[in-house]
Amino acid sequence: MDAHKLKQCFPILTSQPLIYLDTAASSLTPKRVIATMNEYYTEYPVNVHRGVYQISYKATERYTAARQTIADFINADYEETVFTRGASSALNLIATSYGLNNLTANDEIIVSELEHHSHILPWQQVAKKTGAKLIYVPLNSEGRITTENFKKVLSDQTKVVALTYISNVMGYQTPLEEIIPLAHQKNAIVSVDAAQAAPHKTIDVKKLNCDFLAFSGHKMLGPTGIGILYGKRELLDKLEPVEFGGDMNDQVNLYDAVWKETPYKFETGTPPIAEAIGLAEAVRFLQELDPEAILNHEIALKQKAVEALIKLEGVTVYNPTSETGIIAFNLDGVHPHDAVSFFDQENIALRAGHHCAQLIIQWLKVPATLRASFYAYNTHEDVDTFIEVVKKARDFFTSVGF
Ligand SMILES: Cc1ncc(COP(=O)(O)O)c(C=O)c1O
Repeated sequence: MDAHKLKQCFPILTSQPLIYLDTAASSLTPKRVIATMNEYYTEYPVNVHRGVYQISYKATERYTAARQTIADFINADYEETVFTRGASSALNLIATSYGLNNLTANDEIIVSELEHHSHILPWQQVAKKTGAKLIYVPLNSEGRITTENFKKVLSDQTKVVALTYISNVMGYQTPLEEIIPLAHQKNAIVSVDAAQAAPHKTIDVKKLNCDFLAFSGHKMLGPTGIGILYGKRELLDKLEPVEFGGDMNDQVNLYDAVWKETPYKFETGTPPIAEAIGLAEAVRFLQELDPEAILNHEIALKQKAVEALIKLEGVTVYNPTSETGIIAFNLDGVHPHDAVSFFDQENIALRAGHHCAQLIIQWLKVPATLRASFYAYNTHEDVDTFIEVVKKARDFFTSVGF
């Protein structure tokens, strides 16, 4: 992959000096995705499933084709691919609909301290309302979920296993290929947060055999405001919708109504039409780039950066062995929010804070971290500049007595 050439595909990278190292928060948007969404707004900017005129047929046809493209991307069926507002609303839907209707006080939900708040708080609510217990997989000394530790908490009471595929703070991959069959031996269902996996991993839901899986468009070269809930057909067929209104029903009577089939019963109101069409274009772009090639590229950049960082006095790296492009680190004695402003002045966009994953930040025993996340459009020169600015920042804060 030629990251220099790729930079030309992203208007924000050609219009101003910017080293963007915050893809784990949101990826940048390529020209072709913007163009595809503009085409919708200029050529057929109307609703789907309603109008009996040509441009509405075109909108419906493009929207339907977009769902199929995204379903194929994860090897799901069309009916198993639900549009949501993002990974958060998909994960909430699973917990609210499946969790509240199926769990009781005798049941256990396995989660981890590596989860994003979007995959912890919905299950905390389910636990409070049903009496089910939240059980945390003990992390190993590096902060990883291991199959061995998972086995220690799996029990006959386990009804749900809710784990991240890739941690947004540590960049570790969860060994789901081993964990999912173990969970199924206990008849537990597995919910996978794939928000950080979809941008750089080929996901095959049939091979993985997860029950539910969620991700967001804006982390994988697509637009904001759209995400995907994947669910096995037999589970989605039984699942109750959590939002009610237009377009999700076949028939409405005075005191009850009949829902459409999945995926439509979960999608009330006007859907994110431009976003769905834009996300399908992002998927085509990702497939052309090849997710495995992206991952190899970002790991090479991360590796180069980590090797330089761990040699620097006054810098702590928390995840040197991560197998993605994410580095969690700090300048010793400097609050990440102060440090991140220094990087901003040098046109480097980094993230600072708890990254909506306070449990792993507490586990690390720090108030917050800096996070650099590399992606397909970052170059080796970006790494060199980043390392120079880390040194400059460390020297600056040391000189002013931090
Ligand atoms: C691992 C993980 N899960 C879930 C989310 C939530 O995604 P969204 O904000 O798009 O709903 C994020 C976003 O940072 C994430 O990194």
